[in-house]
Amino acid sequence: MRLGILVSGRGSNLEAVLDAIAAGRLPSIEAALVIANRAGIRALEVAARRGVPWRVLTLDDFPDVDARDGAIGGALTDAGCDLALLAGYDRLLRAPYFASFAGRTINIHPSLLPRHGGTGMVGLAVHAAVLAAGEVETGVTIHDVTPALDEGAALLQRRVPVLPGDSAAALAARVLEVEHQALVEVLAELSGSMTAGSPAPIRARQ
Ligand code: GRF
Repeated sequence: MRLGILVSGRGSNLEAVLDAIAAGRLPSIEAALVIANRAGIRALEVAARRGVPWRVLTLDDFPDVDARDGAIGGALTDAGCDLALLAGYDRLLRAPYFASFAGRTINIHPSLLPRHGGTGMVGLAVHAAVLAAGEVETGVTIHDVTPALDEGAALLQRRVPVLPGDSAAALAARVLEVEHQALVEVLAELSGSMTAGSPAPIRARQ
């Protein structure tokens, strides 16, 4: 399975996937292309250090968002990608992207969707919202990506406790560890089912 990874920032999930590939834990997956929507981010350093091809497709290079998102789908297609992973990609993908890559994109979100998803729910804001809501647990969701933000079917959810006295940063760190594990697990299952010639999606589970 040739994997394309879309990034916007730190790249720790990208790094976790590349670590798992290097360690032989995702034997059927090749990181084919990393695409960023801005330059100068740590995720691009991660890709370059590991020798993974990367591209930056910023809005500055296109007449509008539709054109940029169409180009992202085209770049993934040109690289022969079977699946795209949004690993901290911070923009909603628009229709022209899905013209070439519908049904083949997954996202990781640091909460138990549909709780604490949607507009503005990125970074520490997610964990601050969890704390403000008085949740006793939060977690990780890996889901299909559709044109609607954070709304595709869940492939996997993992629960993470909220502990007394948690700050948003402390909670984010606890959730991030689980993100890295869950992502590798989902990719192993998806690549396994592709290898077996069965494209059946992973069933939602807790
Ligand atoms: C992660 O919390 C991910 O769930 C969310 O954005 C963050 C990206 O972190 N979509 P990183 O760039 O992978 O370190």
